[in-house]
Amino acid sequence: ESGWRTANTKSVQESAAAAGVDLKFSDAQQKQENQIKAIRSFIQQRVDVIAFSPVVETGWDTVLQEAKRAKIPVILTDRSVDSTDDTLYDTFLGSDFIAEGKKAGDWLTQQYAGNTAPVSIVELQGTTGAAPAIDRKEGFTEAIAGSPNLKIVASQTGDFTRSGGKQVMEAFLKSQPQIDVVYAHNDDMALGAIEAIEAAGKVPGQDIKIISVDAVKDGMQALADGKINFIVECNPLLGPQLMDLAKKVKAGEEVPKRVVTEETTFDQAGAKAVLAERQY
Ligand code: AHR
Repeated sequence: ESGWRTANTKSVQESAAAAGVDLKFSDAQQKQENQIKAIRSFIQQRVDVIAFSPVVETGWDTVLQEAKRAKIPVILTDRSVDSTDDTLYDTFLGSDFIAEGKKAGDWLTQQYAGNTAPVSIVELQGTTGAAPAIDRKEGFTEAIAGSPNLKIVASQTGDFTRSGGKQVMEAFLKSQPQIDVVYAHNDDMALGAIEAIEAAGKVPGQDIKIISVDAVKDGMQALADGKINFIVECNPLLGPQLMDLAKKVKAGEEVPKRVVTEETTFDQAGAKAVLAERQY
């Protein structure tokens, strides 16, 4: 669905080859039912380890209980599940999405520190029910709660896609009398929003400030060009750590229940400084 997902997939596939791991890969096309089918197929094939990025947080207990009964360890990568039974997976490798939302909100709060004039924010949410969408909203909302002039006046899912971000932003531009800031849960939706803002004759990054998450190459280029104002990194390069964890769980070694991805933030100067060397 996004430049992030493409980079994440490439990292996993390249890391498997480098680690001598036989990777069976299934692209579920953003559909939970396809992920469940693929997990059942892997169980039938009696694979050593199953790793997946749950597209949404809920609805996994049944199929994960089937994997547990088959004694196949499960690793959650990128996103987690909202299950009361944490014995259904061995470890969760991925970002702290609440912290990402908080970093975005903290930056905006600093930008408007000392101002009391109302600031109208529209939010492009990620996939409904997905951990990054739920958590990035939570972290951002918490961070701006201390600044009553910062208000989210509209919030809608763009499903983490460029086309979704463009369509929702077009609707916001028609429905909202004033938009000062866009908070996009990922770069692809922010890039779609930029198209809509420019088509409406406004200047992204100036007339309407944009905050985004991911720091994929296209997003970093827009940041360097001043069309986006701040990006919180969500590192997709999980492949090496995933292969290390997979080998450990296969060997029956203890692994941490939670492995948090290291990542940072970028302003325009920061993006210009690293753009040439970005891996994704
Ligand atoms: O789960 C990570 C999110 O998934 C990324 O931020 C987004 O680009 C992708 O859809």
